[in-house]
Amino acid sequence: MKNKKLLLVVGAIGLFLIGSFIKDNKEMEEKERNDLPVIGVLQFVSHRALDDIYQGMIDQLKKEGYEDGKTAKIVFQNGQADQSKLTSMSQHLINEKADILVGIATPSAQALANQTSDIPIILGAISDPKSAGLVEDNNKPGGNITGVSDQSPVEAQLELVNSLLPNKKKMGILYSSAEDNSSSQVKKVKEQAEGQGYQVTEYAVPSTNEISQMMQVLAREVDFLYIPTDNTMANAMQTIVDVANQYKLPVIPSVDTMVEQGGLATVGINQYELGVQTGKMVAEVLKGNSVPATTPIYTFETGDIIINQKQAEFLGISIDKEIRDKAIIKGGE
Ligand code: TRP
Repeated sequence: MKNKKLLLVVGAIGLFLIGSFIKDNKEMEEKERNDLPVIGVLQFVSHRALDDIYQGMIDQLKKEGYEDGKTAKIVFQNGQADQSKLTSMSQHLINEKADILVGIATPSAQALANQTSDIPIILGAISDPKSAGLVEDNNKPGGNITGVSDQSPVEAQLELVNSLLPNKKKMGILYSSAEDNSSSQVKKVKEQAEGQGYQVTEYAVPSTNEISQMMQVLAREVDFLYIPTDNTMANAMQTIVDVANQYKLPVIPSVDTMVEQGGLATVGINQYELGVQTGKMVAEVLKGNSVPATTPIYTFETGDIIINQKQAEFLGISIDKEIRDKAIIKGGE
């Protein structure tokens, strides 16, 4: 009888001890999680290129010692191309106590910049940070923002157009009038192309809804179509290619991923590598090795030649051996 009582008491104490041990452990884990650096990421929309950038950044961050759920807390928000969501998503990331913010694509970087001038913001592949109003100077950003620019290698792109489509001089440019990143690039392409004797027509659309109809119009007016690094167009690449193919209209986009999706060719920057560089810059700031104000925007100067073999065959375009040897061939090989 006595023994039974003793056993009960000992058992109860044991349970109590185990219980409080588990509780302590949980509290410690909770505390550790709360101490992890918080990285808030705002991506404008899901399209192949931006998804590649995001992945490159995540992989690099892991290498640098920032792995989600273990050594860092990565909070991800995706605006799904809806500009009106970007403000509240930026506020959400700040409420999550982000130590650093990443804006993937210009509209999301602008939304983040509107919400804070203290928390460091790293730009994930922004076409022109200065003309988007994000930094004072690409070499001396001056504020809480720095990052990676994916300025298109326009000169090399025009050189490629010249050799692939030697007799085609009527160039159409299709872009979204809502994206600041496109307007600066369009201006640059237009200037350079006109300087080389091209006749350039701009086709700006307010949203995705007008693309198909605009394509029907422009396909009858131009010899080939150029597309800048425009998020709305990247997102609608399938629609663009469908109409272009009806008219056998060559499409020259600005990035590898859009060539893979049915563009003819381009000279473009590898999107995954843009993300890797973004990840490196995030880590440098988190480690306290650099601050945005004095960290120049990192610009990729050169790109790879990418050719879609299937599209070239479909359009009846032959590619010189000299170019083919230098190029990355996608589709059909
Ligand atoms: N540079 C674009 C911006 O500033 C974002 C971007 C990166 C992009 N890679 C792209 C857009 C590829 C279209 C296609 O918003």
